[in-house]
Amino acid sequence: PDRARIRFHPDGSAPREVRVPAGTTLFDAASWNGIAVDSTCGGHGTCKKCLMRVIEGDVPVSRVDPRAFTPEQLRAGWRLACRAAAEQDLVVEVPPLVTRPKAATVGVGRQVVLRPAVQKRCVTLPEPSLADQRSDLERLRAALDDLEFSADLRAVRNLSRAMRAADGVVTAVIVDDVLVDVEPGDTGARCYALAFDLGTTTVVATLLDLVTGTPAAVASVLNPQQPHGADVITRISATMMDPSALDRLTALAHSALDGLAGEVCAEAGVDRREVYEIALAGNATMVHLALGLDPEPLGVAPFVMAGREFPGLTARDLGVQVHPGARAYVFPALGAYVGGDVVAGALASGMDRDRRIRLFIDIGTNCEIVLAAGDRLLATAAPAGPAFEGAAIRCGMRAAPGAIEGVKISEDDVLLDVIGDVEPLGLAGSGLVDAVAALVSTGLVDASGRLATADDPGVPPGLAARLRTVGEERAFVLHAGPQHDLCLFQRDIRELQFAKAAIATGWSLLLEEAGLTQDDVAQVVLAGSFGSYLSASAAVRIGLVPGVSLLRIVSAGNVAGEGAKMALLSVRERAAARALLEEVRYVELSDRPDFNDRFVDRLAF
Ligand code: FES
Repeated sequence: PDRARIRFHPDGSAPREVRVPAGTTLFDAASWNGIAVDSTCGGHGTCKKCLMRVIEGDVPVSRVDPRAFTPEQLRAGWRLACRAAAEQDLVVEVPPLVTRPKAATVGVGRQVVLRPAVQKRCVTLPEPSLADQRSDLERLRAALDDLEFSADLRAVRNLSRAMRAADGVVTAVIVDDVLVDVEPGDTGARCYALAFDLGTTTVVATLLDLVTGTPAAVASVLNPQQPHGADVITRISATMMDPSALDRLTALAHSALDGLAGEVCAEAGVDRREVYEIALAGNATMVHLALGLDPEPLGVAPFVMAGREFPGLTARDLGVQVHPGARAYVFPALGAYVGGDVVAGALASGMDRDRRIRLFIDIGTNCEIVLAAGDRLLATAAPAGPAFEGAAIRCGMRAAPGAIEGVKISEDDVLLDVIGDVEPLGLAGSGLVDAVAALVSTGLVDASGRLATADDPGVPPGLAARLRTVGEERAFVLHAGPQHDLCLFQRDIRELQFAKAAIATGWSLLLEEAGLTQDDVAQVVLAGSFGSYLSASAAVRIGLVPGVSLLRIVSAGNVAGEGAKMALLSVRERAAARALLEEVRYVELSDRPDFNDRFVDRLAF
C-alpha cells in the first residue's frame, strides 16, 4: 500500500490514528501529528530515547535497534521510532516522555522539533597502526556507522589534517547525506544556517543557531533590482528587452543575499564558514532571476516555470559565500504565480495542519490565496495590480518614513498615522485601504465608489472644504501641506476598488469551489509585510477580506521568512512543504467564463 494507517497509544492519553505515506518512520508520523516523542538527537538514531513498542503489525529490526534493546525486548516489538519505517498498518504503544524534545516556536505558533539537515557529530578516531591500516575515511565511517553518506573531496582533504591536529578528536559536518567537512576538535556547539526571504521589494536574512533553534541576527535590505522595475512583470520585461539584463539582475540578487550574509554574521560574531546551509523562499520570478534562469516564460501564457523544485543546489549557486560546501534549499513552487514564498507561508501558517476552514491571503501586486477546508487545499492567484505598493496611486508610496499608514475620518477632522511621525509625504497601501474605508463609513464614497463633491447633500460641513475638484477630477484632501496638498483622487479610489474586487473574486471563487460561503471561514491569515500593516476592520469594511469577526483575522507578517527558518530547523518541515505541492489544487481564475461577472459583482463597497 502507498499509505499506512498507524494507531498510536500514547501513555496516558487517548489513542490517535494517523495515515502517512508508506515508509514514513514512526518518529515522523508521531511528531507530524503532534504526538510527543522522546528524543535528544532529533531523530538521527543516536540518542536511543525514541522508544516505541509495535503491538500489531511488523517493523523489521534496524541496524541500531540491537544496541538499544535486548533480544527479548526486540521480540516484544520494541523499536527506535526514528529507525522504524511503517510499511503496513500498525498499532504502536508510545511510552511516557522522559526528556522534552528540543523545539523552537516559529511561524504562526508552530512548534518545530529540531532536526536540521545539518548535523555535527564529534567522534574520536583510533590511531592507525600497522595492525590497523584502514584509511582515514574508513575509520570515520566506522565511527559513524549509523549514517550513510557520500563525502565531498574537501572533507576528505581536511579529514587527515583534522585527525592529526586534534589527537583523533574530530567533528564531522554532514548536510543531508553528504559529508561536507571534518573539523579538528569538538566544534558541535557552533552550527549555523541562513534563512532568506527574497521579496520583490525587500530581502530579509535571518542567521539561525541550529544548536538552539533561535535566531542569532536579522537584517534586511531593499531589493537592489528595483531600478529594473517595481514588480515582477516589469522585471521580466526588462530581461526581454535587453539580453544582458538577466545577468545583471542575477548579480544584483546575489549581491543582496551575500551582503546580508556578511552583515548578520558580523553582528552575531559568527564566521561565514560556520554557516553550512541556506534556505530561500521567493516568488517564482525572484527565484528564476536569482538562479540565472530566463524568466520570460513566466510572464506570458501558458506561464511555465523552468523548474518547480531545484534539488542539489549549493549556497554558491546563489552567490552566497559561506562554508564552501554549504548546501542551499529553495522552496518549491506550486505554479508561476503561486511561488515558493506562498508554499513557505502556507507551511508557517500551518495551512496543512488545521482542520478548521482557513483562508491565507498574501496581498501584493499579485495576491495569492490558499483555502484550507478539512483535508482539501485550494490555491489561486489574483492579479491585484499595483494599488497596494502605492505605484498606481497618485500620492502613493512604499511603506517608509513619511508614508501614511493609517487614516481616521470624523465629522470634521482627518487623523493620520505617519511612519516615523514626520510630515506626511504620501500614502502607503495600508493607508489607502484605511482612507477609503473611512470615506465609505462617513458616506463620502458611495457603494459604487463615487467620491462626493462639496455641495452633495449630507456632506458634513467640517469636511466639505476637503472635497475639491482638481482639473476634471474629484479629490479628497488628506493633508494640507506647506508646499502642496496630499490628495486622494477619484481614480485612486477606482484602483483600490479594482484590486479589492480581484482579490475578493479570488477568495469567493475558492470558497465556492469547496462548497462553502464566507460565513464558514474560521480564520483569515493576512500574510506578507503589507498584510501586517493593514487594519482588519478597514479590510472587512471595503470587502477585501470576508466579513468575519475581527477576532478571526490574524496578521501573520513575514510568513515566507518563517517558512524558510522552519525548513532549516527540520527536514520534516521540508517534507511537509513537498507534500503541499501534491495536496494543493491550483484554481486558474483567468480562464473562467464567469470571472468578469463575479469581478463586477465584487466592485461595490
Ligand atoms: Fe534519537 Fe531516535 S530520536 S535515536
